[in-house]
Amino acid sequence: MQQIADDFREKDILSLEQFDTKSILTVLQQATHMADIATMAKPTTLLAGKIISLLFFEPSSRTFSSFAAAAKRIGAQTIEYQGMHVSSVAKGESLSDTIKTFASYSDAIIIRHPEVGTATKAAEASDIPIINAGDGIGEHPTQALLDCYTIHNHAGKLDKLKVVCAGDMKNGRTVHSLLSALSKFADNTVYLLSPESLQLSPTDKASYTENGLTIHEIFHEKDLPKDADVWYWTRVQKERFSSDEEYEKMKHRFILNLDLLNTYGNSNLILMHPLPRVGEIATDVDADPRAVYLTEQMRNGMYVRMALLALLFGEEV
Ligand code: CP
Repeated sequence: MQQIADDFREKDILSLEQFDTKSILTVLQQATHMADIATMAKPTTLLAGKIISLLFFEPSSRTFSSFAAAAKRIGAQTIEYQGMHVSSVAKGESLSDTIKTFASYSDAIIIRHPEVGTATKAAEASDIPIINAGDGIGEHPTQALLDCYTIHNHAGKLDKLKVVCAGDMKNGRTVHSLLSALSKFADNTVYLLSPESLQLSPTDKASYTENGLTIHEIFHEKDLPKDADVWYWTRVQKERFSSDEEYEKMKHRFILNLDLLNTYGNSNLILMHPLPRVGEIATDVDADPRAVYLTEQMRNGMYVRMALLALLFGEEV
């Protein structure tokens, strides 16, 4: 897989594996500038004349809208597809032919798809940059970058952190990409709280551990550390279960409520969630000042995606 090596121009963004620490920090620094630009009354024209295709073959609210908003806020235009039924994929067109079609009309393609590896296959078919906006249970690299930005804004660092991730460690692509990112910085420790059947796969665990991440897998709230910097809650991924009955048994095994927060939380941590939330965080937690999931974490997605798009075309600010 092509490494970014702090030069983003015309490259595909497929996995966190492509990033070294410097490349991650460059995105964060650019995102800070983009946050300023997004709040300016005057629109910028950094990517004037560029057209970005958004091909989303799986549902999305945040990733789709924040990429669309990001492109428009820096002067690009978009071609937007949501759902298998609207493009000629519905008539049986291959992924390769579909990608070549949109590559003929645009300057970059952002793709979300239910199958692991689809973004990589799209990159093989494309002569313009492909950005992975989530491929099945695989990765969601731009989510990890916005999560890093959010953590960095609070902790002032991405190393020596203690992070709790809770929910679906097996199927949650946002967790996979976040763990990959955290494994690149020194002395990070994560506590993965999940039902045993939704543990991280041994292959993923080995890969993050080899990179230097310390991983503790826990199966009960009583084993939560009280000095964590971040709690990163996730939903159990209904769409990855073969049986509704099995999903129903798992979906609310770990609920973040004020009682849990008051028992195991500390005053400095931040509460994150990639969203959507489907009951695993009680709504009265939203008003807690530590909760950033419905506020800055979500909005940071737009800043980070503005930064990535600008970097892709060599238009950093
Ligand atoms: N975090 C995230 O990927 O949200 P959406 O599915 O709404 O894009």
